[in-house]
Amino acid sequence: MKKIIAVLMVALIAKPVLAQLPVYLDETKPIESRVQDALSRMTTEEKVAMCHAQSKFTSPGCPRLGIPELHMSDGPHGVRAEINWDNWGYAGWTNDSCTAFPSLTALASTWNTDLAAQYGQALAEECLYRNKNVILGPGVNIARTPLNGRNFEYMGEDPFLAATLCVPYIQAVQKNGVATCVKHYVLNDQELWRGHINVELSDRALHEIYLYPFKAAIEKGKAWSIMGAYNKIRGQHACHNDLTINKILKGDWKFDGCVITDWGGCHDTYEAAMNGLDIEMGSYTNGLTSESKFTYDDYYLAKPFLKMIKEGKVPMTVLNDKASRILRLIFRTAMNKNRGFGSMASAEHYNVARKVADEAIVLLKNENNILPLKFDDYKKILVVGENGRRTLVQAGGSSELKPKHETSPLEGISKLAPGRVKYAEGYRSGASMFGRVEVISDAVYESLRAEAVEAAKDADLVIYVGGLNKNHEQDCEAGDRTTFGLPFCQDKLIESILQVNKNFVMVLCSGNPVMMPWLKDVPAIIQTWYGGSAAGDAIADVLSGKVNPSGKLPMTYGVKLEDYGAHSFGSICYPGDSINVEYKEDVLVGYRWFDTKKIKPQFPFGFGLSYTTFEYGKPTVSTKTMSAGGNIIVRVPVKNVGSVEGKETVQLYIGDVKCSVTRPLKELKGFEKISLAPGEEKVVSFTITDDMLKFYSDRKHDWVFESGAFKAYIGSSSRDIKCTIPFTLK
Ligand code: BGC
Repeated sequence: MKKIIAVLMVALIAKPVLAQLPVYLDETKPIESRVQDALSRMTTEEKVAMCHAQSKFTSPGCPRLGIPELHMSDGPHGVRAEINWDNWGYAGWTNDSCTAFPSLTALASTWNTDLAAQYGQALAEECLYRNKNVILGPGVNIARTPLNGRNFEYMGEDPFLAATLCVPYIQAVQKNGVATCVKHYVLNDQELWRGHINVELSDRALHEIYLYPFKAAIEKGKAWSIMGAYNKIRGQHACHNDLTINKILKGDWKFDGCVITDWGGCHDTYEAAMNGLDIEMGSYTNGLTSESKFTYDDYYLAKPFLKMIKEGKVPMTVLNDKASRILRLIFRTAMNKNRGFGSMASAEHYNVARKVADEAIVLLKNENNILPLKFDDYKKILVVGENGRRTLVQAGGSSELKPKHETSPLEGISKLAPGRVKYAEGYRSGASMFGRVEVISDAVYESLRAEAVEAAKDADLVIYVGGLNKNHEQDCEAGDRTTFGLPFCQDKLIESILQVNKNFVMVLCSGNPVMMPWLKDVPAIIQTWYGGSAAGDAIADVLSGKVNPSGKLPMTYGVKLEDYGAHSFGSICYPGDSINVEYKEDVLVGYRWFDTKKIKPQFPFGFGLSYTTFEYGKPTVSTKTMSAGGNIIVRVPVKNVGSVEGKETVQLYIGDVKCSVTRPLKELKGFEKISLAPGEEKVVSFTITDDMLKFYSDRKHDWVFESGAFKAYIGSSSRDIKCTIPFTLK
């Protein structure tokens, strides 16, 4: 009897408990009702607590209600090794070695949206395995100067290219229940004085160039979070900027996710409260270099924020909006029932990294078809250069990674010619720690050079592996490059080797263009960017011809620094006067400047050679007159007339022939990457819509087109135009 009563009681008690499952925990309910339900149960203090960090890389949930914390990680090329709870030191975990994916410049250089999706998927799986909810990336700032220390983390100089590649990355990451945090919103286009430099620019440049990829990330990619930048925009810090956050991001683009500060990017409680900042991270730190005794309760969006709310200085609706966004982010990620468990450093992920690294490599020069190399023909191969065997995954700032595997170029090349590869260091960069760089003496450079030259005399092939290396001021956060030329006396080394051995192939590892005074004497060059875990294998793939190179430059290589728009108006245009920087080149960034000003680049935007030859046929056009809302379909046949399989990226540019405002000669509006077997032909088709003809009007504050004459250009690069199609917009 007692047993029966007990069972009845359990049943009676259990039923109401089940019926009372709160809406916010009920995964069958729509996210918005769960958000509202959770919000209604939270105290003001609990809501405020969610608006700021509780450790270096986490922000609180609501422990009383069982709502979990948000765990964030850098980004954007892999999951960073675990950082200590309360300081910037590495935690020293032994289970956090990851796959290092190639840098985002490399991804952009593939011009391959499928690969961007594979990259995002593999990255998400690594995030899941490491229990990360938010990955701090991708970065889509625009490369306006080749000196910017962080260009390697971004997707080049063209807004359309960056927009097109960041969307599949974001979608692939987020379909796994991991949020992307698109950064750095916006105009963080230089590292020098990044914490306070105030950017002044026209509305046109802002919308057409710098906001464009962010808009795509939010509207098309549906990114769940975005990181405010360090710099100021028109006098106000980017992390609490009324124009870019309230009006544009949350107003025009209807962003429903969270604005997270860059670490230490918040500077004012009231402004942060009112201008759309949702989560404050990393306050009172100076980037990666210094720390102060500043407790999380003292953050701008902590106690001071609570006080303002209690005093009625900030309305409760503001707090509710922030808390709702944070809850939404938690439901989308940490409380997402579809989140899997992921996997890390797997062979599959390594293969994704290798495919991206392979396709990213740009063949810049190949005189007399010296490449691909028949490795069996060479008895003595000399690899010269520090980049031949140093890690290019570590260093560089917050994007540095601890890879489980990393093949160096020397390893990759040695596998192709076992026992026949020698190595000479050639130059040395010295240690670079927290902005301090070890100085290497001239005597050391001379002796390393002499040793390499001696070895080169005896070799029947020299493979030079140099470039930049993620040291401070060499493609690294918190400092820009100080010269356009190669560092560490490399020019002299290259010239000295060329005097004794002309059988010379150059492997350039960098995230930025460099000056090339030796270009005419170097028979072959490949640009490899930073290839991540598989860098060395990918370099060997391309040098040996296992992979036919198909990367195309995502940025213009100028002959000299002064050729760039950002360097054509004196120092106020770059780097500024330490208070302001004025983007005087306006919308003419990258090739838009070179084209319009008729400056010959060293290597143009969109350029990249192949081991095969592609022939473009005559295009067909559906009509030459287009009305608003209509379109024109252009079809162009492309044939592989060489003897090996290859990939070609067919590019569509459009130019407005006559316009009431200055427009670039032409702008990228479409591209398609196709794979062709020898002898194979495919027809690439582009649909030109009136959207592609628009510019942002400073007067109307909107995108507009003007009727009249336009030209469509189909090319293999921005300067190798195969056909021009004039048309009219009525
Ligand atoms: C960088 C961000 C990074 C953050 C956290 C900042 O210094 O600018 O890109 O995500 O640190 O490491």
